[in-house]
Amino acid sequence: MPATERDLARAAAILRQGGLVAFPTETVYGLGGDATSDRAVAQIFAAKGRPSFNPLIVHVLDLSEAERLGQFGETAKRLAAAFWPGPLTLVVPRPANSPISMLASAGLPSLAIRVPAHPLAQALLREVQLPLAAPSANPSGRISPTAPEHVEQGLGDNVDMILDGGSCAIGLESTIVCCLESEPMLLRPGGVPRSAIEDVLGERLAAAHSGSEKSEPSRPLAPGQLASHYAPRAQIRLNAEAPQPGEAWLGFGADPEGIGAISRNLSPSGDLMEAAANLFRFLHDLDGSGVAAIAVAPVPNAGLGEAINDRLMRAAAPRP
Ligand code: TXA
Ligand code: MG
Repeated sequence: MPATERDLARAAAILRQGGLVAFPTETVYGLGGDATSDRAVAQIFAAKGRPSFNPLIVHVLDLSEAERLGQFGETAKRLAAAFWPGPLTLVVPRPANSPISMLASAGLPSLAIRVPAHPLAQALLREVQLPLAAPSANPSGRISPTAPEHVEQGLGDNVDMILDGGSCAIGLESTIVCCLESEPMLLRPGGVPRSAIEDVLGERLAAAHSGSEKSEPSRPLAPGQLASHYAPRAQIRLNAEAPQPGEAWLGFGADPEGIGAISRNLSPSGDLMEAAANLFRFLHDLDGSGVAAIAVAPVPNAGLGEAINDRLMRAAAPRP
């Protein structure tokens, strides 16, 4: 049932006691805990089965709150002013006296911070008066949750409460921009398209290096950007023209002839925003049918397509 004032008060009480509450954001559902509590943050890692080298995003109500936790230079301030509240995460230097749990930032000298736009996320942050560490509310490596039932299926009893905000409007995680060096870097494509950020900056965003490049070890990475991620149980075949016998179909634009019953279309009209909003839900749906493989139509790489293709490539990558 949709969340009420009383649910918010209960959620805040659970969080203050170090418990975990899943809450909706405009991107995906987050698994929230008190970012200043080592115990709460450790519980988040345990609930997701997440490797502890992979740091968490800290969620706050506004830029002034964010500036209490991290150091915002010119570029970070400009991006925050342009895109907060919204699907953008900024990685900034972590001051020595930051109240955020060291575990949340995995011991890095930086912090990832974002101001979510979802009214329920904002209401929760206002009520609890704590910064909330919140990774996507899925078991580590699995498909991200864009509806409360995905959280329930994935995490079950590992979460104390799920705040119901219906389906997530954007459906892809936030774009992560690193503001540690003079040139800002795109660490993860996401809900804000690269071009929108480049327009605000007036320059191209540098690309983050992949984990295998050891030549410039000082260059920061999003440590969580593992090759295999967002993985359904089924195998994924990308850039397919049509499904082969036994494959489910995930289309984009006009569907080919002869697709079977187990199919979805991300956007029959070829709209990338619609496709982003549908992506994780449709992967959950098709995977839930028990098929062995899912064939996926090509998705153009423009705008939000960059983030959609990033998720699809990781979903299709060989599993560890
Ligand atoms: O939209 C989102 O960002 C969602 C909602 C819940 O806010 N959250 C989310 O969190 O996607 P998660 O944990 O699934 O992904 C966080 C990413 C990881 O790839 C992690 O490595 C990166 O952020 N990250 C966190 N702190 C970082 C830091 N200090 N430096 C570089 N990358 C960082
Ligand atoms: Mg995630």
